[in-house]
Amino acid sequence: MALMKKPATVLGFLTLGLAAFSLSGCFGEEYQGPPTPPPVVVSNPCGDNDTLCIPRAVLRDTGEVIFQNCSGCHGTEGEGGRGPQLANSDFFMNNRLRVINLVLRGNSGDPPYIDTLVVNGVVWLGGGMPAHRDVLSDLEIAGVLTWLRSVKNDSTVTNCNPDVLDGNGMPTCTKTARAPSEMELDTVAVWEVKAVRDTLPPAM
Ligand code: HEC
Repeated sequence: MALMKKPATVLGFLTLGLAAFSLSGCFGEEYQGPPTPPPVVVSNPCGDNDTLCIPRAVLRDTGEVIFQNCSGCHGTEGEGGRGPQLANSDFFMNNRLRVINLVLRGNSGDPPYIDTLVVNGVVWLGGGMPAHRDVLSDLEIAGVLTWLRSVKNDSTVTNCNPDVLDGNGMPTCTKTARAPSEMELDTVAVWEVKAVRDTLPPAM
């Protein structure tokens, strides 16, 4: 069967070619062949600015250090405290752009931005998260988020049930271990933080 197909295709091309030839004959123009496709442009999100593309390992190391800015409220390992957990957190992992926005702008009532969050089944009404747009660089924020995603979220959290509490009085959730290979690749790039920063209204 495979052998049968080839002559058929060649025949198809021949027929097409003949049709094109006779058509061009009708209009009195020489057949130029198919139009040249436009060149394929692979867009480099970093543009000419290579400093926006920082290797994963550098991001992670930076992030671990910078997390000192967060640990007072979110715990030294991201386990939570005054603020919700950032380690094994469904909100954190499922809201990539909203999280970048939240870290830059904070969630402390700067009008008109205040947001209610549900993190692992617990409702946070907002008001406690400070803005970091003037405190941390894009690299530092990308680093913290990369460290949290690729080191501190080793489980995927789903199905949190606030009606069934565990021994610590927290909603019960389903936790599924993530593959180390998947975690390893989980990066927030500097250019992503920059892109979100560029959408923010001017500081108030
Ligand atoms: C002064 C305390 C405080 C500091 C410091 C702080 N946060 Fe928060 N953060 C909060 C609170 C409280 C919330 C819950 C929302 C609210 O009340 O505004 C929150 C929410 C969040 C959330 C969304 C919820 C989640 O679990 O995903 C993220 C992400 C986050 N903070 C990241 C950070 C990062 C990164 C830093 C450091 C650069 C930081 N926070 C520093 C208090 C803080």
